[in-house]
Amino acid sequence: MNRIFSGVQPTGNLHLGNYLGAIRNWVKLQKDYDCIFCIVDLHALTLPQNPDELRKHTREVTAAYVAAGIDPDACTIFNQSTVPGHSELAWLLGTLTPLGWLNRMTQFKEKAGKQKDNAGLGLYAYPVLMAADILLYKATHVPVGEDQKQHLELARDIAGAFNRRFETDYFPLPEPQILGEATRVMSLRDGSKKMSKSDESDYSRLNMTDDADTIAQKVRKARTDPEPLPSEVDGLAGRPEADNLVTIFATLAGRSRADVLGEFGGKLFSEFKGALVDLAVATLGPIGAEMRRLTADTAYVDAILKRGAERAGEIGARHMNEVKDIMGLLRP
Ligand code: TYM
Repeated sequence: MNRIFSGVQPTGNLHLGNYLGAIRNWVKLQKDYDCIFCIVDLHALTLPQNPDELRKHTREVTAAYVAAGIDPDACTIFNQSTVPGHSELAWLLGTLTPLGWLNRMTQFKEKAGKQKDNAGLGLYAYPVLMAADILLYKATHVPVGEDQKQHLELARDIAGAFNRRFETDYFPLPEPQILGEATRVMSLRDGSKKMSKSDESDYSRLNMTDDADTIAQKVRKARTDPEPLPSEVDGLAGRPEADNLVTIFATLAGRSRADVLGEFGGKLFSEFKGALVDLAVATLGPIGAEMRRLTADTAYVDAILKRGAERAGEIGARHMNEVKDIMGLLRP
């Protein structure tokens, strides 16, 4: 059976982009793959985190997975730091990764900002750890949002470099699965910026835990342009905010954008936004409520993570031994 690996950073503010770009697709894929869903706490540490918040957000992401419909009995759910193979394999793969490959990574450039010399080694090595996450389980498929595409290409390059260097086909080259129309959900305040956990304005995103009133307020305040909605998809060109809201609507409703515009073309945003509020409250509301309920049940969440860590740990340990043998690291 093909294996999926994917993950979310426990950095708070889980939002509609994380849901539509990733988690919702995982729910659909879980029956057809052996699935491993990780809470990537080691990745979160590449930027400063408060320890209590990090623990809280790790449980919150776990709760989000389950609340969104991931079956913890059928899938492996665990936090990255519980399986030592992630860090260990990241070191080994780092010995095969040219600096030139890392220098191309746009996410590092964005996150490091102008003060590159002050950025941490962890932030720079972030994509190597991500390659290790995937390859530790010899995952064949990786469902993610569009922003992770470059990192996945690097993971494939690193897998290829390992296979060539040791004349083996040990690592499968992982396939990205960038699925659906909402692969890049944009900010509600600025259609040229990605919806992001770190945007300082909470009005830029719909959080998975927002209640109905908050959803309604944020959608009503979402930026638009003065024209009515177009009747055809082509009419969304050059109208990023309109495009984003229509894409969100279509994805939440499981309809095509053309179909949505067939209904709302020529109508004003006020009417469309009213329908979007109803739809968002109906789809996200129950998930948010279940997330809040599960997050409060620490014992339940921790039991899921413990079970997941055991299963992931077994696979990880087995593969680490194989990798060490291939690379010539003695295991007396
Ligand atoms: P993270 O935590 O930033 O995001 C988690 C998932 O949500 C997707 N996503 C979006 N999709 C659509 N529109 C958006 N605005 C949006 N924002 C985020 C991301 O593409 C991602 O799928 N590096 C990863 C975590 C990671 C990982 C891995 C993923 C670590 N190791 C191995 C896959 C495999 C990250 O920071 O995701």
